[in-house]
Amino acid sequence: MGAKVAVIGAGYVGLTTAACLSSLGHKVVCADVDQEKVDALRRGEATIREPGICELVVDGLASRRLEFVLGASAAAAGADIVILCVPTPMGATGAADLRALESVVTELRELLPPGCVVVNKSTVPVGTAARVAGLIDRADVAVVSNPEFLREGFAVHDFLNPDRIVVGSSDRDPAPARRVAELYGKLDTAVLVTDSASAEMIKYASNCYLATRLSFVNTVAELCEYLDASIDDVTAGMGYDGRIGDAFLRPGPGWGGSCLPKDTFALLRTAESAGSDFALLRAAIETNVKQQELVVGKVRKAVGGDLAGARIGLLGLTFKAGTDDLRDSPALAVARRLAAEGAELSGYDPSVHAPVAGVTDDVRITGTAYHAANGAAAIVLLTEWPEFRDLDWARIADRLGGSSVIDTRNLLDPPTVTRTGLAYQGIGRPDSA
Ligand code: UGA
Repeated sequence: MGAKVAVIGAGYVGLTTAACLSSLGHKVVCADVDQEKVDALRRGEATIREPGICELVVDGLASRRLEFVLGASAAAAGADIVILCVPTPMGATGAADLRALESVVTELRELLPPGCVVVNKSTVPVGTAARVAGLIDRADVAVVSNPEFLREGFAVHDFLNPDRIVVGSSDRDPAPARRVAELYGKLDTAVLVTDSASAEMIKYASNCYLATRLSFVNTVAELCEYLDASIDDVTAGMGYDGRIGDAFLRPGPGWGGSCLPKDTFALLRTAESAGSDFALLRAAIETNVKQQELVVGKVRKAVGGDLAGARIGLLGLTFKAGTDDLRDSPALAVARRLAAEGAELSGYDPSVHAPVAGVTDDVRITGTAYHAANGAAAIVLLTEWPEFRDLDWARIADRLGGSSVIDTRNLLDPPTVTRTGLAYQGIGRPDSA
């Protein structure tokens, strides 16, 4: 028999958690404050773009193991385990904004069934589980941290094939942590039970390590350009070292998305409040800004030194391929800088079909990559959509006003591009013309 689970929040993490837990045999009630979202989910329409999620929602509804309700209170009644998946965006100071979390906890406080376990899945500053336990202040309710490690575009896959499950509980009684670990009992993976502060730190340390690793790689790529080395070979060679591993070593226009930027800032603020200077993390963040400037410098140089009035075509706007997420996208950060210097930007992204007010304002959105290339002095690939590899570069060459292709993801095969007479520049790759 599965557990009775309430998932509070049907956003990215909440919906994935609810749908996947129901597929593991638990009875899940998932709550959101957005009536339209709840209605869509009840009709079996997934409200996030994620491979496999729609099928899981439809199966869950059909088997009656998954239900969607409006408001946290309706979900919590009768639950053994209440999982909090509410947004914790970056606040004005860079620290995580916990208002949504605190308001849900306050709303649920009196309604939680005796003996239930409250689980923090949102990424929250170290010490939040203790704070939530303080807010709930009930001896018959335990609070446990259970951070998620889901990548956008692979959320269902990552949930059902985790590298590890982390459960943090500062309760002397190990039973609540065990009950949470049992939710994942069908998955073949390592389960690490820690105190709650350590569980919260594992999440931040993992994301901040990944960001630092990318800033390191991007800097090595820059050095490769000065030294006529190839970052492709360098990272391939590094990746064979089992201590390093070959994942997460691709250079790019800087890292972005809804997690890495937010979590690096938040940990930096946490360190500051603890009286510690996390200089390495600050350098990783600064290096990321520098990476965007470096890309802009390449484009400026490609158009002869002055971006004012230069037409530039952009390929890719989302923060990475396989998502329609534009939040904290390095592509848009580069676009903003180009536009600030007077460049006129046309951009194509396979998942962006219309302008998004306040987000894509610097870019005229086109329906195809070829339209983005029309009359442009240079074309800049910013997101690694695999289909860009299959573009007809002769057709792009015909449409371009200039001859520069800047591939910030090292996605393209340089000879395929240069065969058409275009000049190719990657990141940390020897230039080819
Ligand atoms: C990230 C983490 O990878 C997840 O483990 C974590 O659970 C999640 O944040 C979260 O905190 O919720 P995600 O934001 O989906 O996942 O994106 P990643 O795939 O990690 O990519 C982050 C950024 O790094 C993107 O801009 C991507 O283009 C860039 N990147 C990634 C590179 O430039 N090179 C790489 O080799 C990998």
